[in-house]
Formats: sequence, C-alpha cells, structure tokens
Amino acid sequence: MEDKSNLSLDFQFGLEAGELLDRVQQGQRPGKLVDLQGKIEEAFRTLKQGTGPGHEFLGWMELPGMIENESLEPILDKAEEFRNKGPLTVCIGIGGSYLGTKALIEGLKPQLSPFIPGYPRVLYAGHHLCEDYYKELLSILDYYDYTVCVISKSGTTTEPAIAFRLVREHIEKKYGKNEARNRVAVITDKAKGALKTLADQEGYTSFVVPDNVGGRFSVLSPVGLFPLALAGVDVKKLAQGAYAMQKRLSTQDLDWSANLAALYALFRQYQYQKQGKKVEILANFEPRLAYMGEWWKQLYGESEGKDGKGLFPSTANFSTDLHSLGQYIQDGERLFFETVLSLEEQQNEVKVPYEEADLDKMNFVAGKRISFINEKAETGTCLAHSRQGNVPVLRIRLPRLDAFHIGQLIYFFEFACGLSGYSMGVNPFDQPGVEAYKKNMFKLLGKPGA
Ligand code: PA5
Repeated sequence: MEDKSNLSLDFQFGLEAGELLDRVQQGQRPGKLVDLQGKIEEAFRTLKQGTGPGHEFLGWMELPGMIENESLEPILDKAEEFRNKGPLTVCIGIGGSYLGTKALIEGLKPQLSPFIPGYPRVLYAGHHLCEDYYKELLSILDYYDYTVCVISKSGTTTEPAIAFRLVREHIEKKYGKNEARNRVAVITDKAKGALKTLADQEGYTSFVVPDNVGGRFSVLSPVGLFPLALAGVDVKKLAQGAYAMQKRLSTQDLDWSANLAALYALFRQYQYQKQGKKVEILANFEPRLAYMGEWWKQLYGESEGKDGKGLFPSTANFSTDLHSLGQYIQDGERLFFETVLSLEEQQNEVKVPYEEADLDKMNFVAGKRISFINEKAETGTCLAHSRQGNVPVLRIRLPRLDAFHIGQLIYFFEFACGLSGYSMGVNPFDQPGVEAYKKNMFKLLGKPGA
C-alpha cells in the first residue's frame, strides 16, 4: 500500500516509460528495460560496496545516520549564539558550499520573511563576481548587526575568498578585531587550505567538511547544517527525514518495489539511452521549490556531464514559466522529458472570494482553495505535456514542505545520482571540467605560476 507520509513516484504521465516502470515496481523485468535494470543493479552494488571510481567521496551515504547518532549540540548552540548577535548573517560560499543551504532555506522559511519582524535573515556572497552587489552588501552591513559564515571545502576558491576579504575587512572595522572573531564561523577542511590556516590564526569557530564528502553532496554535513540552523531550519527533522530515506534505499539487495532512487535512475536512463532525450526539465508548481531546482542542477550536471555524456539538467517554475517556456515544452523540439516536483499539501487555507459582478468570470472557482486550483493546473499541465505534447512526465510527490520531507528528497536525489552516473559509466563524484575556466581566468589575471 502507498505510504502517504513518504516521498513517492507517480508514473501515470510517463507514457511508454511510465507503463514499463509500473511493471518494474510490481516485480516484472520488461524486455525493453532489462539491460538498463542490470546496469543499475550493478551500479547499486558498486555504490554500496564502495568499489567504483570516486569511492573516496562516498561519505555522504552515511551522513544522515551519523547525524542521528552524533550530537548536533555544538552546531545548534553556536547557531543560537550567532542569532543573538544580530538579525543578519552573511553566508559566503559557491557551488556545493552554497546551493544546498540556499535551496533549503528558500524551501522552508516563510516566503515573505523579510517582512516578518525579527525573522533571521541570510544574505549570500561569494557565488559571483558582481562589483555592484558587493558595494550594496557592504553598505547594508553598516546598518545591521551581523555574523558571518564562510564555507569552502578547499578554502582556496576565488569567488568566496574575495567575498570574505571584503566582509572580513568590514566586520573588523565595525566591531574591532576581537569581537569580529566572535562573529565569524568557518566551515572548511579539518587540516588544509588557506581558510583553515586563517581560522586557526584568528581563533574563529570552525566546523569540519568531512574529507570523504564532495561539495554537491555536502548539504547534510556542517556545510549545510550550520547555516541552516542559523536560519532557523529544524536540522534534526531534516536529518530524520534523510535517515528514513537512507534506510529505505540502502537495503542489502536492490528492491525494485521500494527503491525510489533506482526507479528514478531507470526512468532517466531509459529516456537518455533509449529515447534519445538530451534534457531533463525539473519543474515545480511551488515557488518555494525553485531553488531546489538550482541545487539539483548542480548535483546532476556536475555528476553526469562528462566524457561527452549526460542529460542536460534544466528547470522550470510553474505557473510562471507556463507563460514563457510553456510554449516550447508543449510544441517545440521533443528533446526533453519532465520531472515534476509535486507538493501535495499546503499548510494554510486561502479561498477565492465570490464577487457579485463577476467581471473577471472567476465565480466558477469562488470558494475553492488556491491549492485546489494549483493542483488542477498541475494535472492539466501534465496531461497537456504528456498526452498532447508527447513529453514523458514523471512526478515526484512530496507530501508536505517541511524539513523531514525535504531531508527525504535530498537523500533520494543524491542516491539516484550515484546510481544513474555509475550506470552510464561515468564517475559521478569528480568535476574535472570545473578547472578549465579557473586556469584561463588565473592566466588572464596574471596569477603567479598560472
Ligand atoms: O561540488 C563541488 O565540489 C563544487 O561545486 C564545490 O562545492 C565548489 O567549487 C566550491 O568549492 P569549495 O567548497 O572548495 O570552495
């Protein structure tokens, strides 16, 4: 029986793949999928036994269980201390040291939180090189009491290093060197890198990025846990959700009836390898999930896009993008499939008012909840894109938008990414291509030795 309190997959709009995947979930091995199922089973063994390329970065697989068993108190205590020091935190980081945190904060905080008095505010830095932004940021920091959280595993990444120089200069001027030390926390490698050296010199609070966890898989380590706790996210519930998913996916043998990550990996690889699709669109009908899409793009793009292979991960935010990209998705080239992040329940009720004059002709939905209308928009879109537009659509159903279910979603996507990458013969845990732009930039900037 379907467990309504957990994440689930809905294949009803998946066209041919949907029917095939339904059969797989029922224990069958359809001829069209048998080779891919074999590859994913092999990938499952490789991942679990830690025998594949990049196996030195499999620490993420055990993180939820570890958080459950280890004390989160040092992180929670420091987060509370920082919150008491001021309403604003500057979070400095890029890529895997930024996207997970931003995605979860955006997903879980009230959307209009800047207008809620006293609600903790997070400003981000170090994820771009926009001079005007830094000018604005530094002037805002003049007016608010703030703390800083710098996140860089290597401790040597250009964009966050420059941002931290600017913010460190500001915070030391504003509070003096001594108090500045009490307002900066650093999350970096336990032993190496410029940031670690600086943290030791200055005596900043430090949390460790585990050696065996790569950036884009690190949101359930201190990389995400500390800034999330700072922003008021219930990190214990987040860990519990991720752990529930870890237990569900990390069974002794691959159980196709329950392993959602294997089913998702199979759906994707069927579209890529058998249907010639080049792009996966992750769509949502919930503004708070927009940044989950940004995190997901990095996870899949950096993990699979190598050796001339890989689905291009793209996103769409509906209804907004139904009035822009919607045209292409419905009628343009059939080069993609769609994965819809589907939220089943809103926490609050708002109903459409009745109007006697009915000038806008909206009385047919008067008295209906906005979420009821959104659900019809979602189903109507899935029908239009799949049945009329011939785009296979997979729905990932999220019962509620809370820390527990987001924890499940994070671990589900990570595990599926490992399976999917290994099954197509790439190392999902490295990112050699990221170096190319850096080399050119350093040369152009005249960096010694570049
Ligand atoms: O996934 C990755 O490893 C990268 O995206 C890194 O997270 C990103 O480059 C930032 O690196 P660092 O944390 O070392 O500053």
